[in-house]
Parts: sequence; structure tokens; C-alpha cells
Amino acid sequence: MAKRKPLIAGNWKMYKTVAEASDLVKGLKKNLGGISDREALVCPPFTSLAAVAQLLKDSNISLGAQNMHWEEKGAFTGEIAPAMLADAGCKYVIIGHSERRQYFGETDETVNKKTKAAFAHSLTPIVCVGETLAEREKNITLEIIGRQIKNGLAGLTDKQAAELVIAYEPVWAIGTGKTASPAQAQEVHAAIRNLFASMYGNEAAQAARILYGGSVKPDNVSELMRQPDIDGGLVGGASLDVDSFTKLVQFS
Ligand code: 13P
Repeated sequence: MAKRKPLIAGNWKMYKTVAEASDLVKGLKKNLGGISDREALVCPPFTSLAAVAQLLKDSNISLGAQNMHWEEKGAFTGEIAPAMLADAGCKYVIIGHSERRQYFGETDETVNKKTKAAFAHSLTPIVCVGETLAEREKNITLEIIGRQIKNGLAGLTDKQAAELVIAYEPVWAIGTGKTASPAQAQEVHAAIRNLFASMYGNEAAQAARILYGGSVKPDNVSELMRQPDIDGGLVGGASLDVDSFTKLVQFS
């Protein structure tokens, strides 16, 4: 069975002008030119996608977007269609980030529509799941995540399931400096893989990558990456700086 290639993804959120994005990517290209046993991905805001795509041509750093609509086209003011992302050079798209669920009404149902639409346009979805602090304290973490996975990821083909990227991001660990301990993260990652195996078979579940997100920093990335079911990181704050993102990708 093929080994899962580690994926370190930077979610830039609502940061960086085109000029700032270009500077960051130029620095990353210089530092990460030679990587091959791991994959680096940047997800800038929509306004910088085209400029960053141009800079990343002939590089091994991948490009992704942070959200999209599930419809092909139409009167949906302010939305971006899957084909527009593919056209801009994106290979990945983040779907159902907790900030979108919390502030913009994203539900498991819209996550499911977007996940299928991404695959239909040859984009690899990175589907985010995670519990809030209140849910963890009530001991319902696995129940919450189980529901997000079952409903958000229903109806895929086995091939799509194998290509999918899932990101476990405990809401209480995002931007707070509080990381889940490697053991806490591993427990949830293993549960996600088991559940995914019950939906799509063991082969797909072994192939799908599961990233951890929530205060991943250069000083905690290696220990997280040593866990058997952690296949990479989805990084916010520490992805906005050339040096720290370089160190994250170069985890040992
Ligand atoms: P931080 O790395 O800033 O905690 O953000 C995590 C995140 O939300 C990535 O999508």
C-alpha cells in the first residue's frame, strides 16, 4: 500500500495583499525548491490566486483556495465557482473550515455539496471537521466529528474517498496557542480513519490524508507528525511568514 505523502498546508485566511502574497511565495519558492518527499500547499485569498499561480509555475509548491460555491455558475453575487478556481491554477480547496461554519452558516449539507462539486472539477477538497471546547468538555468530541464526517462526506466514490484530504481542527486550538496534545490528536485521527473505513473500505481510508490544524508551530510540528495517523498540518498563523512556514515544511 502506498505510503501517504505528508502535506503541509498554509491557510492564509483573510491576510495578505497581492504584493505581500507575492513576497511570501517568492521566499517559499527559494527555500522549498527541492522538496519531494512531502508536499507544500499555500491557500491565499481569492484576490491573490492568479498572481501566486503565476509565481508557482514550474515549482513543486501547490496552490489551493479557502472556499467556493457548489454551483457551476449563476446569479450568486460574491461567490466563486469551482471551475474558476481550477482555471486560476488551484489544485486544492479548503471546505467547511470552522470559521465558515461559525460565521457564515456553513453546514454539513453545504460541505457535502461543495465536496462533490470540487471532485467534479478535479479539485482535491480539504474538508475540515472539529469540536468546540464546550463539546470536548461534554465528552461528545467523537460524536460531533462522526456526524460531520458521515453527513459531510456521504455519497463519494471509493476513488474520491481515497483522494480526499480531511483536516481535524479542534475549534478551541485555532489561533489560541493551545495545541491538542499529539495523543489527543492521534486519538481523533484514528477514530476518523476507522469511521472512514466503515464508509469507504480500508484501502480508501488508508490512502486518504488526515491533517491536524490548530496552533501548529515549528516547535510542535515534528511531534505531531510522528503520530501514525497524522499526515500533515493545516496551518494558519505560522504559515504567514517565510521562515516559519519553511520550518514547518522541513519538519523532521
Ligand atoms: P492557527 O494555525 O492560526 O491556529 O489556525 C489553524 C487553522 O484554522 C488553519 O485552518
